[in-house]
Amino acid sequence: MSEIVTKFWIATLLLLVAVFTLITLTGFELYRIQLEKETPEESYFRCGVTNEAIHFGSLGDSLAETGIKVVSEGQQLFQANCTQCHAIQEIVVGPPLKNVAERHDLDWLIRFVRGPQAVVESGDPAAVALYERYRQFMPNHDFLTEEEVFAIMSYVDYDHVVAQTGDSVPDYTAWKQRQHGL
Ligand code: HEC
Repeated sequence: MSEIVTKFWIATLLLLVAVFTLITLTGFELYRIQLEKETPEESYFRCGVTNEAIHFGSLGDSLAETGIKVVSEGQQLFQANCTQCHAIQEIVVGPPLKNVAERHDLDWLIRFVRGPQAVVESGDPAAVALYERYRQFMPNHDFLTEEEVFAIMSYVDYDHVVAQTGDSVPDYTAWKQRQHGL
């Protein structure tokens, strides 16, 4: 009799383990399907665009993989839209963009790049000071999405760090720490 009871409990236990495993595997599979459906924009936001800090703490991707994706998109956009007037280190038509994330927060940068004239005309002190120094309006770039401006700023910052340290090997850890002000 007691043997039957023991077998019953062992069977119950095995059943519970099987059900638990099934639920866990289904969960992982659903999450994987969800990630596959993500657009690049969603994945940028999953990787974290907060008000000021830019961080690439990510689920699934390694930091380097995620960083490279954003930075290289930013580089292409910068070359296509900004290099006729900006370099990172020196004045071209507009100011050098090195350390720009230390002069303005990300919200400001996104607003300014997409519509500089409106920001100057709103009386924003930083924008007015720039306009008084450079004496011309930077053209609007409202065709760029917030994520695209974010990517450009990530590239500018990354490029500047590499230029500063003279490091030919990208140091993502230092870059990330700097973004967090650590
Ligand atoms: C036709 C020239 C021109 C182009 C193209 C241009 N800019 Fe500018 N940019 C300027 C000028 C001039 C200023 C100085 C601000 C002013 O006069 O309004 C400026 C200022 C800035 C600033 C503020 C810099 C600081 O030191 O505070 C940022 C950031 C910026 N530009 C980013 C960009 C980005 C990103 C692009 C490409 C998407 C871009 N600009 C394209 C001319 C340009």
